[in-house]
Amino acid sequence: MLKVALWLVLSLFSGSGVIIYALQQQYEEQSVTYRILYREVTVKLSQLETVLSLLSVSSDPAIVQQKFPQIVAWKRMPQAQPIPTLTPTGEGTYWLAHQHFALLIDPALLFADIPQRHDFRQIGLSWHNKPLFEQGDHAQPAYWQWDKGISSAFQPFALSARNDPDWARLPWLLLLLLPVFWAGVVYFIDQYRIQKRQRNIAVLREHFSQLTRLNAMGEITASMVHELNQPLTAVLSYNQAALRLLDQQQQDKAVPLLDAAVIQIKRISTLLLQFRQKLAHEQVVLQEVNLHKVWLRVTMLLEDEINKGKVRIVNRMPDALPTLRADPLWVEQIFHNIVTNAIQAQQPNQPEPGWVAIDAEYSDQGIQLMITDGGPGLSEPALQQVFIPFFTTRQEGLGLGMALTETLVQRLNGTITVENIADQGARFTLWFPFNTQEE
Ligand SMILES: Nc1ncnc2c1ncn2[C@@H]1O[C@H](COP(=O)(O)OP(=O)(O)OP(=O)(O)O)[C@@H](O)[C@H]1O
Ligand SMILES: [Mg+2]
Repeated sequence: MLKVALWLVLSLFSGSGVIIYALQQQYEEQSVTYRILYREVTVKLSQLETVLSLLSVSSDPAIVQQKFPQIVAWKRMPQAQPIPTLTPTGEGTYWLAHQHFALLIDPALLFADIPQRHDFRQIGLSWHNKPLFEQGDHAQPAYWQWDKGISSAFQPFALSARNDPDWARLPWLLLLLLPVFWAGVVYFIDQYRIQKRQRNIAVLREHFSQLTRLNAMGEITASMVHELNQPLTAVLSYNQAALRLLDQQQQDKAVPLLDAAVIQIKRISTLLLQFRQKLAHEQVVLQEVNLHKVWLRVTMLLEDEINKGKVRIVNRMPDALPTLRADPLWVEQIFHNIVTNAIQAQQPNQPEPGWVAIDAEYSDQGIQLMITDGGPGLSEPALQQVFIPFFTTRQEGLGLGMALTETLVQRLNGTITVENIADQGARFTLWFPFNTQEE
């Protein structure tokens, strides 16, 4: 609709412009013709005045009239006329008298004798604002009009000319081609705009996909650094301890340490598989997860830290706790991060011995888990920002544990909140609805 309006406006404007220009050209041409006509008429009238003043008794009318056909008659005046007089006959002719002679002049013949071709629709001479002679069509008003007084002492006429534009001479072909031209221009502009928009969209899409890729890559890298750090440290310390025991010829005691190292290495392998899945966008298969088993496994994985921190682990989850539909590794990571923080928050030499406890409640809708510790609780800024990436109060912390945990909980359509419990420490409350779907 807008395009049609634009096309119409452009065609109308340019068409009017062309018509105005063509009319202006015609007007200029005709003005030149009028000026030539005016000059010729002025010359012819002054010739008549010269003839009149030069006539004498011996002059031969036949010769004079042959040279000046506009003099249709002449007569001798009974008395000399010192002042030139002009007397219209009322039939388009007029008598011009001076001294001893009077000439009857016919302007029609005067105009006919002008060699300059003109095609005015009407021309006329007026004297004292009254028409003296008129030629052509006077009935219709004309489009253009020229008027100018003739500077003659004897015959101070005004020469007028009227005409209409020659419509047939307008550039009709150009006028017909203009709308076609503008239709083409509007079409090409439109196509250009469509293509530009498509290009912009493509650029944006490319940019966006790069951004999301970067985001995903950043998230995966960050979580790899975070999640692989603990098991690798554990493998290192188990192996170093095992080496020491082997050096001391205590092979028997080294075996459980190597077993523990194998378990940590398997965890590393599972985590790497998970990152691989994420990178390859492989579909995650959710399964029924027994939370007791996962809790047990996490406490086993963190055995070293638990022992060093002298932290007691308490599982108060009901035996009949239903399973949760999830990826077991996600739940493991969630527990792992929360318990690691709880252990780290409790110094081995604090007055009260450290502990971490898990409680669970369930209904038809879902399962609620509460993980509480005996530490100092979260500081005020930590309460506000614990889930924000890179927020940490620990010297060697990355500040990613809780951010990753929240992402995993949300992936299970769950929620996680934190609070401080009086006379205890921090409590993380997790809620998992049963209609869990991977996002
Ligand atoms: N159980 C807790 N008791 C007290 N403070 C805690 C507890 N859990 C988390 N916090 C606070 O929240 C901060 C953020 O925890 P988060 O696990 O995200 O990072 P981090 O443990 O500092 O570093 P990392 O990336 O290695 O896990 C911690 O630095 C700590 O101040
Ligand atoms: Mg942490």
